[in-house]
Amino acid sequence: MRTSVTNGLSHKEQEVYDLLDPQRLPHHIAIIMDGNGRWAKRRHLPRIAGHKRGVEAVRGTVETASRVGIPWLTLYAFSVENWKRRPKTEVSFLMRLLVTYLKRELSTFNDNNIRLEYIGRRLELPDEVQETMQWAQDATAKNTGTVLTLALNYGARSELADAFNSIVDAAAKNGGLEHLRKQLIDEETIGKHLYTSHLPDPDLVIRTSGEMRLSNFLLWQLAYSEIYVTETLWPDFSGKHLLEAIADFQKRERRFGGLAEHSA
Ligand code: FPP
Repeated sequence: MRTSVTNGLSHKEQEVYDLLDPQRLPHHIAIIMDGNGRWAKRRHLPRIAGHKRGVEAVRGTVETASRVGIPWLTLYAFSVENWKRRPKTEVSFLMRLLVTYLKRELSTFNDNNIRLEYIGRRLELPDEVQETMQWAQDATAKNTGTVLTLALNYGARSELADAFNSIVDAAAKNGGLEHLRKQLIDEETIGKHLYTSHLPDPDLVIRTSGEMRLSNFLLWQLAYSEIYVTETLWPDFSGKHLLEAIADFQKRERRFGGLAEHSA
């Protein structure tokens, strides 16, 4: 049994962590945070109470990921569809919650050496939200630990559309479209024009609240990721759950389209 205590882990987290192989932690974990509304409904509370508790779950998850040394963590906080399909009051509550979260958590980010990044159509977000996002990103830009990427106003299909337009724009500025036609567009070129060009593909994607869907999240980047679905609703998700997901990931055999080791 290992005797070392990983900096700042709770007793329960440490118990799960001790079962993990620290050499085989996933490099990039992406999470679809779902179930805030159901969490609130079960308690006869308004949906926004679920979102408030959801922020606490974000804090715990981010801290644990950083403490065990996960280099990249990406959280799906707000989809492009959320604008259209939720009441305006809920959307503006989520925007305010995000601003408060970024302001309040800055010291946590800096204390834990966490760098903030964003993916999504941020220019469509309210001005105050954009300004706070930029402020928090600048204030953490020099940190060298976990990169926390928040997907805000994000949709995988709009990301692909934006990438294709960006490829055409770049070509128009650099030798014109004839030049582009000679080069052929390959997977590497597309990857460089995605919002995630600062990230490796996720090794593990976690979805809470039991739904078996990707919901337009990182469709290109999740091609070979391991999927872990838990019944736990997002506000109940904690660092311990994150470590349990990693334990499950470590049992999987990743083949990337090749053969299983024993059949080679
Ligand atoms: C899904 O729950 C969750 C969201 C749409 C928003 C996620 C937001 C948070 C966790 C809080 C804010 C985040 C940050 C980073 C400050 P749902 O409302 O779809 O739940 P339901 O499916 O049970 O209705």
